[in-house]
Amino acid sequence: MKIDVLTIFPEYFGSIFEFGIIRRAKLAGIVEIRVHDIREYAADKHRMVDDRPFGGGDGMVLKPEPLFAAIEALTGRKGREDRREGVKVVLLTPQGEPFKQASAVRLAAEASHLVLICGRYEGVDERVAEQLVDEEISIGDYVLSGGEPAASVVVDAIVRLLPGALGSETSAENDSFSDGLLDCPQYTRPAEFRGMKVPDVLLNGHHAEIEKWRRQKALEKTKKGPNGPNYGREW
Ligand SMILES: C[S@@+](CC[C@H](N)C(=O)[O-])C[C@H]1O[C@@H](n2cnc3c(N)ncnc32)[C@H](O)[C@@H]1O
Repeated sequence: MKIDVLTIFPEYFGSIFEFGIIRRAKLAGIVEIRVHDIREYAADKHRMVDDRPFGGGDGMVLKPEPLFAAIEALTGRKGREDRREGVKVVLLTPQGEPFKQASAVRLAAEASHLVLICGRYEGVDERVAEQLVDEEISIGDYVLSGGEPAASVVVDAIVRLLPGALGSETSAENDSFSDGLLDCPQYTRPAEFRGMKVPDVLLNGHHAEIEKWRRQKALEKTKKGPNGPNYGREW
């Protein structure tokens, strides 16, 4: 998968994609992540990327020209109807579809080239969303100062699902949300710590019993989850 991130603060991403699974996936050629400064696509001599909102009001808005130029250059695309196989242009915005594990699974499967637009200030000129964006994604019902943290969340959740990105192919299947259940509790050595013991069943080496216990605990955790007994029903 190829991922292009458009931002006015490329420094934000410094080493954020240089750890663990994402780094491994990059080194293995599973994903290529490029971060672009939107300013580089601004044609005027001051490289302006933002301007005051029409109609008045506080703050600034990211201008359409540099974003159109960037998306056209990166995807070859010239407007909403000009679809390219596997290309998804995503705007990070609190007004978008809530990003869930199912969204990550879908995008990991459908997209071979993701372009993520990080807004700032009051947001992005609406014509970008109208003409060039395939999906608007929100990482939660709160307002961030910029799309950069949201882009890093989306990249992380998607990249770990790409075939070969995780050490063991099965590890994502048991993660919370993947099968409608939260993950079971996990323990490691020591078997007893400050009087707290690891459940005996995990120490007896009986795989069928361990699986049964894990499933039972995953069900209990899911039922207790933040939205009460029906937590998980909407997945
Ligand atoms: C201060 S916000 C703009 C908020 C906008 N005025 C509104 O109320 O919808 C600046 C940028 O941060 C990003 N952002 C903020 N909250 C976000 C969220 N929950 N999910 C994804 N992106 C978000 C978006 O890219 C947005 O353009």
